Amino acid sequence: MSESLKDQIQKLKAQRNAIILAHNYQRDEVQEIADLTGDSLELSRKAAATGCDVIVFCGVNFMAESASILSPDKVVLLTAFDAFCPMADMISTGMERELYGAFPGYKDPPRYVYPVEYTLRDIKKDYPCVPVVSYVNTTAEVKAESDICCTSANVVEVIDSLPDERVICVPDKNLSAWAAKNTKKEVISWDGYCHVHDRVRPSDVEKARRAYPDALFMAHPECRLDILEMADNVTSTSGMLRYAAKSSAKEFIVGTEIGLLYRLRKENPDKMFYPLRKDMVCPNMKKTTLESVYNALKEMKHVIKVGGKIRESAWKALNRMLSL
Ligand code: 13P
Ligand code: SF4
Repeated sequence: MSESLKDQIQKLKAQRNAIILAHNYQRDEVQEIADLTGDSLELSRKAAATGCDVIVFCGVNFMAESASILSPDKVVLLTAFDAFCPMADMISTGMERELYGAFPGYKDPPRYVYPVEYTLRDIKKDYPCVPVVSYVNTTAEVKAESDICCTSANVVEVIDSLPDERVICVPDKNLSAWAAKNTKKEVISWDGYCHVHDRVRPSDVEKARRAYPDALFMAHPECRLDILEMADNVTSTSGMLRYAAKSSAKEFIVGTEIGLLYRLRKENPDKMFYPLRKDMVCPNMKKTTLESVYNALKEMKHVIKVGGKIRESAWKALNRMLSL
């Protein structure tokens, strides 16, 4: 990509008093121009703490929503208007469509598995008085109807912080299974999954271990439980960065989306990192390009604004987690 496009992005960024945030799964060249890279929650927290006026979010829509919830006075731009997380859309309150009015001509967000007939409201009715823990990979509306949020890094801590013996954990069945294994509480799970992580099979791990016998295997908790049980370390994307940096090992098999390899390699030039499967690619994360970052800044699009009661309630669920 030409240097001049990068220069133009920097110029516009200064004019707009903007900050560019990129998730760890973004394309290498997008991570390169970002002010901050990290996991979804890390990015929103850092953005809320900066003095900028505009947050340019290179990620998927639930991440930009979280940034808007935590930074109500800032303009939040999502670089790729149709970048969504299929797993986040596997659960609904039945009310999400209103939000998409923000995108003219985009009234019908893609839904992956769950029909809206069985919603978060229905599972709450089926298990009255059981608190809802929602993964940050959910819409603002789902967060607003949850008791507390969690990330892949703190799901067990969040569940254990609640006084209840049973919790509903949405939307990822694999993250729920991992949590259930690591807490004494009963975890009632939704049936969603991430198609990028759920596709991994034990034979993939066996093959990678044969190819790289000295490597440690790190797995993201969105992988299935049988895969997690084969791992040397189960952690979030930021957790993998910390683990690889601290470890005395020199080689690692990376069980998450391949975008993380960019930072792992950059921050640990003396170590080797191998993707568990080369097709662990999230197509929605790759929708952002340098051109779309430039266009977002130039045209101040696509604005993501979570307001009103949804924001207030979603903020409570996010903030309860952040206060732990
Ligand atoms: P992290 O919060 O670990 O970055 O994960 C986000 C995500 O989308 C995982 O697929
Ligand atoms: Fe969603 Fe999976 Fe993509 Fe993460 S990697 S944004 S969970 S589809």
